[in-house]
Amino acid sequence: MAKPPKSELPSHLPLGEKSEGRFYRKHILSVKQFTRSDVEYIFTIAEEMRTMVERVGTFDLLKGKVLANLFYEPSTRTASSFTAAMERLGGSVIPINEVRYSSVSKGESLPDTVRTLECYSDVIVLRHNETGAAATAAKYLRKPLINAGDGAGEHPTQALLDLFTIKEEIGTIDGLTITMLGDLKYGRTVHSLSRLLQMFNVKVRYVSPELLRVPEHLREELLAGNLPFSEHANLDEVLAESDVLYVTRVQKERFTDMAEYESVKDAYVITPETLTKAKEQMVLMHPLPRVGEISMDVDADPRAAYFRQMEYGMYVRMALLAMVLGKA
Ligand code: CP
Repeated sequence: MAKPPKSELPSHLPLGEKSEGRFYRKHILSVKQFTRSDVEYIFTIAEEMRTMVERVGTFDLLKGKVLANLFYEPSTRTASSFTAAMERLGGSVIPINEVRYSSVSKGESLPDTVRTLECYSDVIVLRHNETGAAATAAKYLRKPLINAGDGAGEHPTQALLDLFTIKEEIGTIDGLTITMLGDLKYGRTVHSLSRLLQMFNVKVRYVSPELLRVPEHLREELLAGNLPFSEHANLDEVLAESDVLYVTRVQKERFTDMAEYESVKDAYVITPETLTKAKEQMVLMHPLPRVGEISMDVDADPRAAYFRQMEYGMYVRMALLAMVLGKA
């Protein structure tokens, strides 16, 4: 697609020689590294990316730059939205979506694998099954690495897009009651989003089976951060007051005891009947994939935001790529 005329470009998204900025060459490993001002800045850039995509589709902000997309775990949204983000910014992508077809299957270590990809690319996106893998890999790199999910640890770009979704759908974050439902123990998106919410004036309601409650280390962090939260087993206790209902999948792949998984996998299912008890303006979110915890009968309800949420993710990832490569 043709480059847009200069007059259409936001003045602070330079296509020319100007570069750097607060995230230039920085790794994105955890939401703990952000301030509220950082988050608001990312959202400003993401909104501009949305405008540009709607106006021109693809533009050359990252022309000549290469992203290595390295996924040790399956992904549909994160892998493809980072690819789409890079390509809409005019860059290109090395996709390694199945490490078993790479030299990882011959026993190559994570440090050697990322140092190899660094030779061919300007930024690496890494998803890994082990908590802390992104931080470990980053120690070996001179170029920026973005954590696309590390085990049951964090998923910082998902948390940013979740929060961006709330802001775009409701217009504000402060003052809201946000309910998170499902697998709060292993759901890394819940962990990252909870940490981000500490920066805002919100109330959080956690709803889960006893087995899948928020881990103790996160509970202590949230208490220390003065996030007002409460824990429940019954969604009905908090549904009516919720402005956002954030549903998560029970993470089968993290269980060692399948009997335990079976005992909790169908603990909650959101149906049209559930939504009759919710606010008319509530926003229903899910990081996806879903495996039954939101009925497809709910999809047509205007409150169901999970498909829009995926699209917001591309704009946030465009913003992050531009930022770490010094173009925003
Ligand atoms: N939300 C999310 O991380 O989805 P994928 O596993 O498909 O990337």
